[in-house]
Amino acid sequence: MAFSLETVVPWGRSFAEYQAMFNLTPSDLQKSILGCGDGPAAFNSTLTQQGGRVISVDPIYQFTAAAIRDRVTATYDEVIAKVRQNQAEFLWDRFQSPEHLGQARMAAMETFLADFEAGQAQGRYVTARLPELPFSDRRFDLALCSHLLFLYSPQLNYDFHLAALQELCRVATEVRIFPLLELGSQPSRHLDTVLTTLNRQGYPTRIEHVAYEFQRGGNEMLVVSQPKDGQ
Ligand SMILES: C[S@@+](CC[C@H](N)C(=O)[O-])C[C@H]1O[C@@H](n2cnc3c(N)ncnc32)[C@H](O)[C@@H]1O
Repeated sequence: MAFSLETVVPWGRSFAEYQAMFNLTPSDLQKSILGCGDGPAAFNSTLTQQGGRVISVDPIYQFTAAAIRDRVTATYDEVIAKVRQNQAEFLWDRFQSPEHLGQARMAAMETFLADFEAGQAQGRYVTARLPELPFSDRRFDLALCSHLLFLYSPQLNYDFHLAALQELCRVATEVRIFPLLELGSQPSRHLDTVLTTLNRQGYPTRIEHVAYEFQRGGNEMLVVSQPKDGQ
């Protein structure tokens, strides 16, 4: 049986993974960035230490650091067991084994947790959830959304995906989404219809190859930019 999870799990990636998943250049990292659904990822913490400007949103930021650690720890065994059962769905070059993957995820979470309280006080971790974000139009240059949209296509329907992408396009000049596969390493059932609708509404879209592949075949991101004047 292919990899599947009933709910969206709070599972965090490292800054280096974000750089690779989103083709982030040094000039991208100078931009004002929104990390949407960042959960316990280390991206905000590390980029902030490097002098970057980033705000993360996620519904789990309503919880304390201790509660987030408990939730990640509680899902750890299930996620690693499912990865182990479905090892052939993944490429094992960046991570050598399910255990190595688990260590990397827990290390990213610890980096996040060490920064969480200070980051909340500075307004860098905001409790919110798609499809509505508490930001003004074009507040950000770039919005990134990793391992939420398209990955959870069985759990999040077409209407949610479209509304979420439109909202990301409202608050950011450019939007990047990774991956474009569902759990189970199948192409997202919503991708084609969402792209058709966004294009019809005037949003230019393109799919870019990235230097990151863990789900087999999952090495592409979606880039959505603003409609040209007059559209
Ligand atoms: C698999 S984790 C990915 C975390 C991070 N983006 C990464 O790649 O390391 C998915 C995250 O999406 C968050 N999430 C779930 N529903 C959401 C929503 N409606 N809006 C924003 N984030 C959401 C979850 O709380 C969780 O932290």
